[in-house]
Amino acid sequence: MEEFISAIDIGTTKICALLAGVTHDSLGNLALRVLGEGTSVSQGIRRGVVVNVTEAIACIGEAIERCETDAGQHMESAYVGIAGSHIATLNSKGVSPVDARQGVTMHDMQRALEGARAVALPQSKEIVHTIAREWIVDGQNNVQHPLGMSGFRLEVDAHVVTGSSMAIKDITQCVTAHDVAVDELVLEPLAANEAVLRADERRMGVAVVDIGGGTTDIAVFLEDALCHTIVLDMGGNHFSQDIAVGLHAPFETCEELKLRYGSVLPESVPEDDKVWATVFGEKAERSFSRRFICEILEARAVEMLEIIGTKLDESGYYDHLSAGVVLTGGSSQVPGLTELGRSVLAMPVRIGTPSNRLPVTGMSRTLQSPAYSTSIGLLLWGLHEDARKIRQNYAQPRQGIDWKNRALDFLRGLLP
Ligand SMILES: Nc1ncnc2c1ncn2[C@@H]1O[C@H](COP(=O)(O)OP(=O)(O)OP(=O)(O)O)[C@@H](O)[C@H]1O
Ligand SMILES: [Mg+2]
Repeated sequence: MEEFISAIDIGTTKICALLAGVTHDSLGNLALRVLGEGTSVSQGIRRGVVVNVTEAIACIGEAIERCETDAGQHMESAYVGIAGSHIATLNSKGVSPVDARQGVTMHDMQRALEGARAVALPQSKEIVHTIAREWIVDGQNNVQHPLGMSGFRLEVDAHVVTGSSMAIKDITQCVTAHDVAVDELVLEPLAANEAVLRADERRMGVAVVDIGGGTTDIAVFLEDALCHTIVLDMGGNHFSQDIAVGLHAPFETCEELKLRYGSVLPESVPEDDKVWATVFGEKAERSFSRRFICEILEARAVEMLEIIGTKLDESGYYDHLSAGVVLTGGSSQVPGLTELGRSVLAMPVRIGTPSNRLPVTGMSRTLQSPAYSTSIGLLLWGLHEDARKIRQNYAQPRQGIDWKNRALDFLRGLLP
């Protein structure tokens, strides 16, 4: 194993650092083997944004250190997740002329994407991703892989993701402070998609909804292309907070009540079930109706699902989601959320979990949970990015590139 890919998922409740080696599966396709895993409790990060640099640096360092100890080696660079309400998206077009004698080259594709990046942005914003949704060659729409096609004019319809320069700088600083370079900042729902969506769902139309602790991140795919992304300032913490307000009890107590007794289907809970908790200002525990707690959760879940429905409707893609919604993230595990989701959103809803069908081996039981979809997805994003680079290097013989070395790199990448 010569090449390694690492990921750092910086969430509102937990940080997860992973280090994996690049291998090959039995068919010779690129695959990953998780070698190290480190988690820590998130501090100094709220709703995807660093609010206390010192605390954030410390807890990110803890996760990296645990991961490095587990893997027995240093993490040199990592794909890092980014989310938060500062993220905005827009669709933009770019054009490039094509030399008809050689057909569309990688260089033409890059030039068209560069054109799509030329959008007017305020100084405080910068581009995180420019992702091709559709290529158009000489007016012919819906081209998925234009490389090598004949034509004179290449157009790209791209999805541009932007974020606050300060938020990006803060996240980057928290990682580089530990001598770990940032390979790429990756929008979290894009990473989650890699871990939980099936190709047929992406083709038919699907929304992946990652409900974490502080944010809910949505990415919409149709005809195999990313169409829309939404980041909402709400997550599992709101569930616990609502219980805290309802019971006048500390947040931590209510978080535990949610995890142990929570459901968003109060009718499924026996009417006389009681739970015990200490409230503010009292020493002895009090009893509460479990159903009451579940009613609080149901009210918040309905509100969240309605907001998700409204946002999908506003995006114009609601009616195109034939494969429905795939819920993931820690909070997708609240019992009853899929059933409630189906009735509120009126479409298929399932839970997405990083599973064995992924080209990833060595995943611990902890990682095989919806809470780690983004973390595993970041590794997969890195793996695909590597494969893309190999393809790019292979496809650019005319650009005056160090061809011999790249071919050697490519061959090295094929070694087990
Ligand atoms: N079994 C469960 N039932 C209900 N909620 C759960 C369960 N397990 C985890 N959660 C909730 O999931 C949330 C954490 O999810 P996750 O780990 O995906 O968030 P994060 O990545 O840290 O945050 P974010 O992505 O929002 O920045 C917490 O609010 C936690 O209470
Ligand atoms: Mg998360």
